[in-house]
Amino acid sequence: MSTMSRAVNVQLVYVSRAKAPQTTTVTTSILLQAQVHNQVSGITGLLCQGQGFYLQVLEGERSKVNALFQRICLDTRHKEVELLRYEEISKRQFNLWSMALVKLSADDPMVKMQHPQFDPYSASGEQVVALLTHLIESGQPITAP
Ligand SMILES: Cc1cc2nc3c(=O)[nH]c(=O)nc-3n(C[C@H](O)[C@H](O)[C@H](O)COP(=O)(O)O)c2cc1C
Repeated sequence: MSTMSRAVNVQLVYVSRAKAPQTTTVTTSILLQAQVHNQVSGITGLLCQGQGFYLQVLEGERSKVNALFQRICLDTRHKEVELLRYEEISKRQFNLWSMALVKLSADDPMVKMQHPQFDPYSASGEQVVALLTHLIESGQPITAP
């Protein structure tokens, strides 16, 4: 059966806390690493930073996504990595970028309006994906390589 050989794709969403201030230097080095590696392993997704949090969506082959997530968990630039959602997908949601970057600003009126006390650690995975989708659709992506 041809479907047996097709790789299983998954979408993984996590939240973490940055250990140091989220400066552009730190972000740029994470993003450069991500873009190079993700392109090679066919991973796409979105990294959102702000208010001391990182929120990330990783999409791709299950084994690739799992391996990357294990590396990311060990990264000393952040802590309290918490898995928010993990599911098999037939279609990628963030397939245009090897890793897009969006900023989560507490002052963003849409964030305030739609998520008045947004705490990613208590939000559902679905809420987080909805917020990220909103941020990227409202023209927030800073880089779209
Ligand atoms: C918030 C955050 C997001 C990251 N996202 C990715 C990513 O999407 N892809 C990636 O290859 N590395 C990402 N990294 C970096 C990895 O943790 C790791 O440093 C990098 O893959 C290099 O691993 P290596 O030194 O074992 O080659 C991220 C790191 C942080 C802190």
